Amino acid sequence: MPLTSNRIVVPVLAAAAVIFAGVAFVQHRHAIAATAALAAANQHAAEQVAAAQAAAAAQAAKPAKGAAPGAPCKLTDRELFDQMTIRYTDGRETWPKNKWLGIPALQNPLDVWITQEILTEVKPDFVVETGTFNGGSAALWATILDQLNDKARVITIDIHDMSEKYRETPIIKKRVDFLIGSSTAPEIVADVKKRVDGKPAVVILDSLHTKEHVLNELNAYAPLVPVGSYIIVQDGVFNGHPVPGGWGPGPYEAIEAFLAQSDEFVADRSRERLLVTSNPMGFLRRVKPASGTAAQAAQADTAAQGGK
Ligand SMILES: C[S@@+](CC[C@H](N)C(=O)[O-])C[C@H]1O[C@@H](n2cnc3c(N)ncnc32)[C@H](O)[C@@H]1O
Repeated sequence: MPLTSNRIVVPVLAAAAVIFAGVAFVQHRHAIAATAALAAANQHAAEQVAAAQAAAAAQAAKPAKGAAPGAPCKLTDRELFDQMTIRYTDGRETWPKNKWLGIPALQNPLDVWITQEILTEVKPDFVVETGTFNGGSAALWATILDQLNDKARVITIDIHDMSEKYRETPIIKKRVDFLIGSSTAPEIVADVKKRVDGKPAVVILDSLHTKEHVLNELNAYAPLVPVGSYIIVQDGVFNGHPVPGGWGPGPYEAIEAFLAQSDEFVADRSRERLLVTSNPMGFLRRVKPASGTAAQAAQADTAAQGGK
């Protein structure tokens, strides 16, 4: 029985082994083929991703339509800069925390840079600033003037006195004069005119941001600014320019009304070249002498003498 059994069992086992080996071989081949296919698919996918990344990089590197020459990427989109302006203006952690020499200074640093360029060009004897708050911006203008003109002073005006704590700051002691009262009150305007006394001034308006108040300030202080100098109207961004909100007409609308009534100033939009500004249309350069002023008389005199 065992012999008979072996005669049957051994060939059966051998046949089974051959079949098993064959199946294993086929499965192995399939596995190899599947692995190869997977690798190929992965390679294809990786190539596609790389191609997409390269295309995106090339697109980003292209200057956007209307971009400044040499602009490295699409960042000149007006929409993007408007969003940055809105984010900066609405931020709790942005301008409200700005300080100059430790004094709160509610300024947009990009506009400060531009103002520094204007002050350097004009080298005025006076900066007349409306809206002192704690005195940080007055200290900032004084720091710049200190490098430019040994006689220069900052006259800063506020309806409230909130700068007492900082009055001992050396640059404030050296160059800043404080006036307390409304910037449009006749006695304040007269006091400022007396101090400036016909010498060149740059005027910076940063007090009450309503259309009526800013327009009154523009009319009151424009005569202090000679041809080539500037009135800088701050914070025209409100009321949809581009910062939305229920502000009502503000500095921007005051500028529009002021420019509509006089051709003595132009909005120097080249001063908005840093793209994010709180002062759209707000860098007003005098291009004609004030009517009826000594400056105009002097210019007429020069012309009469065959002027240079
Ligand atoms: C935006 S803050 C000035 C910020 C300051 N220039 C700075 O950068 O730190 C506006 C200031 O205008 C003042 N103000 C409001 N109405 C005014 C008016 N009629 N005349 C002068 N100042 C006024 C407020 O008291 C306030 O301090």
